[in-house]
Amino acid sequence: MSNNIDSVLNETRVFHPSDAFMRQANVSGMAGYRALRQEAERDYEGFWARLARENIVWHKLFHTALDESKAPFFQWFADGELNVSWNCLDKHLATQPEKTALIFEADDGKITRITYRELHARVCQFANALKSRNIKKGDRVVIYMPMSIEVVVAMQACARIGAIHSVVFGGFSSKSLNERIEDAQACAVITADAQMRGGKVMPLKSAVDEALAMGRCDAVHSVIVYRRAGSEVQWNSRLDVWWHDAIAGQALTCEPEWVSAEHPLFILYTSGSTGKPKGVQHSSGGYLLGAIVTMQWVFDYKPDDIFWCTADVGWVTGHSYVTYGPLAVGGTEVIFEGIPTYPDAGRFWKMIQQHKATIFYTAPTAIRSLIKLGGELPKQYDLSSLRLLGTVGEPINPEAWMWYYTMVGQSRCPIVDTWWQTETGCHMISPLPGAMPTKPGSCTLPLPGIMAAIVDEAGNEVPGNQGGFLVIQRPFPSQIRTIWGDPERFRNGYFPKEMRGAYLAGDSSHRDADGYFWIMGRIDDVLKVSGHRLGTMEIESALVSNPLVAEAAVVGRPHEIKGEAIVAFVVLKGTRPQDTAAIKKTVEDLRNWVSKELGPIAKPDDIRFGDNLPKTRSGQIMRRLLRAIATGEEITQDISTLENPAILEQLKQAIK
Ligand code: WTA
Repeated sequence: MSNNIDSVLNETRVFHPSDAFMRQANVSGMAGYRALRQEAERDYEGFWARLARENIVWHKLFHTALDESKAPFFQWFADGELNVSWNCLDKHLATQPEKTALIFEADDGKITRITYRELHARVCQFANALKSRNIKKGDRVVIYMPMSIEVVVAMQACARIGAIHSVVFGGFSSKSLNERIEDAQACAVITADAQMRGGKVMPLKSAVDEALAMGRCDAVHSVIVYRRAGSEVQWNSRLDVWWHDAIAGQALTCEPEWVSAEHPLFILYTSGSTGKPKGVQHSSGGYLLGAIVTMQWVFDYKPDDIFWCTADVGWVTGHSYVTYGPLAVGGTEVIFEGIPTYPDAGRFWKMIQQHKATIFYTAPTAIRSLIKLGGELPKQYDLSSLRLLGTVGEPINPEAWMWYYTMVGQSRCPIVDTWWQTETGCHMISPLPGAMPTKPGSCTLPLPGIMAAIVDEAGNEVPGNQGGFLVIQRPFPSQIRTIWGDPERFRNGYFPKEMRGAYLAGDSSHRDADGYFWIMGRIDDVLKVSGHRLGTMEIESALVSNPLVAEAAVVGRPHEIKGEAIVAFVVLKGTRPQDTAAIKKTVEDLRNWVSKELGPIAKPDDIRFGDNLPKTRSGQIMRRLLRAIATGEEITQDISTLENPAILEQLKQAIK
């Protein structure tokens, strides 16, 4: 990302919120922001307790806000009781039962609207179906579904009965699904026959069948299948039940299960530095609070907004800003099954026009690809309904920011560049759009109550503009509670001793003279490919599980649209293929292998072969050298510790 960082570093443009925006904003002007921050600094627990009392309807009010006695296993509002689904649905029934909750647009353009009253009834009905299959509080339910009203119903129904959902992105392979079902010891899987994307039918149920056939999924006693595409499926009558059969005759009301604020709401697997994805476990009360306050602060949510977050529910963004946040504040939101380029690259703009979306939240990778495929297309649509834009998931380069600002936002809409992670549950560092002046490429300042800082290896804050590790120094309500089944990995990974109790985010960053944060990238071996988080170790393990492969090392290189591209350096067991045709065939075979092992999103962009990998005398792969080779940079680093310098020439040759 070096070019990106250079251009970001030279960025001097500043965009102030308009007076009109500022006047109507939930947090108005820097004075409004500072007042909240100061409140949190004066009385940290009191600040969060006030917000939790005001924004959540508690079945039983908590007495203690923060319990640090088991640090780093912090607890928030633990003696309070609530139900997240009740807070998303029932809470609104008295005041706005006929308000539209979801506007669903299918891949083929078909639109379905559903009110809060209807959504509540469907969630209750499905919750009863789950209960009748003996699924209960604390059970894990894997959800492997397309974007649909049903997936929101499935997640909310789990929350309603206190079952812990684990959503697996539909682009992950059956093997990834198998590992996640096994790790969570899930008792049920909710899926669909297939998903529709870009006019194509992509099977889902068959991947579930394959995953279960791989074994170690004995806890699964039910597979509930929503019929989306009407495609043929294999049927296992011992496990399988159609969604429509499961809900038939079920009552339309369902008393929610009141749970402790610390009861796990969900697990979401994400990539880290090892080959094994980690099950990030979130709470009920603290997580919900984070989703609600960020809807108000960052998205400046107002009751007449039409909110559209384009993220898939397979990622954390789709949890916090599709399934939970927008419903918890009683909003109307758009959800979309398809892809931004089908039937053409104007799809997003057409949908904004049609649904009169006021807030639009997407990923830089989508913005970059739409610039490339139709930079002028937004002009053909009426985007005057928009009042606020957002981005998430990776750094946005200033050029893409400026295009988004001028072409989509028509220089009228503030952009919130939101920095956060699966582990943080909600936005951490982001502009409050009616308060902070924005700078293209910076996520600006931490939210009120978020004590973000930049430190060195010893945990000391770095002075001035220096880069360092991004940490959050005080526990906050929406943070990860543990890694499912692996508390030690949680402790060591996020709260290493040197950080002295601070949460280590895994990103590097620096701050400018105004205190604005500029995210520089990951400090671990995690890549962001088209906004998807992938571990290089996972891809390496997938490669070496191929019988042809002896060794593999994976690094990222900057990519114009995807942010990062995946480059794999591979040592084969036999001899290195020499002629172009043989190389091409092996490359294709290995790319397809990774796609089958992990999912199409993890397919390497380039594969290069060598007789060995550059290693230190102690046998460690020197990744920084591979990164330099992958980007075609001159190798300026010290290579005196390199065991086999000749290998560099070979790997460099291999690029040409
Ligand atoms: C990166 C996504 C720069 C970062 C919500 C983080 C960002 C990782 C931004 C988390 C941003 C996310 N600017 N980088 N606005 N937002 N990132 O878990 O490296 O999929 O650690 O959560 O994405 O990715 P995850």
